Amino acid sequence: MLILKKSCLWILLMDTKKAIFKRRTIHLFDKKKVSETIIENAIEAANQAPCHRLTFPWRFYSVGSKKRIQILELALDIKFQNKKIDDKSKNLFSKKYLDPSHLLLASQVLSEDQLIKKEDYAACSCAIQNLSLSLTTSGVFTKWSTGAITRNPKIYNIAGIRF
Ligand SMILES: Cc1cc2nc3c(=O)[nH]c(=O)nc-3n(C[C@H](O)[C@H](O)[C@H](O)COP(=O)(O)O)c2cc1C
Repeated sequence: MLILKKSCLWILLMDTKKAIFKRRTIHLFDKKKVSETIIENAIEAANQAPCHRLTFPWRFYSVGSKKRIQILELALDIKFQNKKIDDKSKNLFSKKYLDPSHLLLASQVLSEDQLIKKEDYAACSCAIQNLSLSLTTSGVFTKWSTGAITRNPKIYNIAGIRF
């Protein structure tokens, strides 16, 4: 019985180690659909992240195709402003926002307390990493991005996130 427990633990540690080493950022995604179960499992893994005072400050939003087109238009606006966009750049941006099976937005519920806000930011990072590792275990690659679009107030309107 004890041996069985030990070997189970060893397998679990190996799986975790394998996922940590296998997780890598990718920049180009194919259009293959990832099942909602895999995404839900990853969010459940994210929810296991540690958070001080049990604040659970992270939120994840899965953005549907219509909103993704609006996000793509905003990204093009930010990048090119009023300049003419060549077809190659437009195509690259379209692939970036529309090809991945899922686009998840991660946000933090902001505390008024500056220390808690910092601790919560750290906790959100742990949650995103848990999410990425869970997806890696399911053979799904990810990109975590904090590009200019994530700091543009318009994205909150598009995603329906209230400040
Ligand atoms: C908080 C954070 C923000 C990131 N933002 C961007 C980004 O805006 N654009 C980008 O191309 N990669 C971004 N990345 C991905 C990193 O560039 C990537 O993790 C790094 O190159 C190491 O590669 P790896 O994830 O395969 O280990 C971000 C990663 C983290 C953790």
